[in-house]
Amino acid sequence: MSRTDSHKNMAELGAHESRLYSDLAPLYDKTFAKFFYSRERTVIQNLRLPAGAEILEVGVGTGTSFPAYPHNCHVVGVDQAPKMLAHAKEKIAKNNWRHLEVEQMDALDLTFPDDAFDYVMAFHVVTVVPDPVKMMSEMQRVCRPGGTIVIVNHFTTESPFWGKLTHSLDPVTRRLGWSTNLKLKPFLEETGFSGCKAYKFSRFSLYTVVVGTNDRE
Ligand SMILES: C[S@@+](CC[C@H](N)C(=O)[O-])C[C@H]1O[C@@H](n2cnc3c(N)ncnc32)[C@H](O)[C@@H]1O
Repeated sequence: MSRTDSHKNMAELGAHESRLYSDLAPLYDKTFAKFFYSRERTVIQNLRLPAGAEILEVGVGTGTSFPAYPHNCHVVGVDQAPKMLAHAKEKIAKNNWRHLEVEQMDALDLTFPDDAFDYVMAFHVVTVVPDPVKMMSEMQRVCRPGGTIVIVNHFTTESPFWGKLTHSLDPVTRRLGWSTNLKLKPFLEETGFSGCKAYKFSRFSLYTVVVGTNDRE
């Protein structure tokens, strides 16, 4: 975190600026990743990725999902945090995973050309980036028409009581590394990705899987 960032108050701090993705990155695999992996594995398995598929994962972090990808696909992971990517690179080297590569890149300003990927994923990222709609428009742009976009994330409840509570917790959770303010329906409407399917693995799960065909013009 820069000196300027350290002078920001809690309400101003963006979730992406959390120490979780910089100084505390070594802790990530021992905590969050353990909790996230089985969900990511199930989502990836359910996609039945065909051999030769070109896949982009934005906000790949330390590469939590890596063991789940079939070796006959090609996966590019991007993330803005060098310390998270260092762990991802270590895993790739240690396991000699030739089908995986990572690059430092802003998910809001991807340097890939249009239609470059068959699948574009974002696991636990939309509530971390400063502008989720912009991230989604970049995901739609680099995914070929007819390709598949997958998002796994928590979204704020529509219930007025719980919604108010999560809204009031937002400055705190943002400091920890995620926002609690994003509502699924308006997010999908704004991104134009409303033909997708959204489901949870269980009724009480905090996390929603959003999957659909990239039908942008
Ligand atoms: C909660 S972690 C999720 C990591 C991984 N997808 C997982 O499921 O374990 C969120 C990640 O988003 C990354 N991130 C935040 N803002 C970003 C941006 N603008 N561009 C790329 N990555 C970003 C963070 O550095 C962090 O690694």
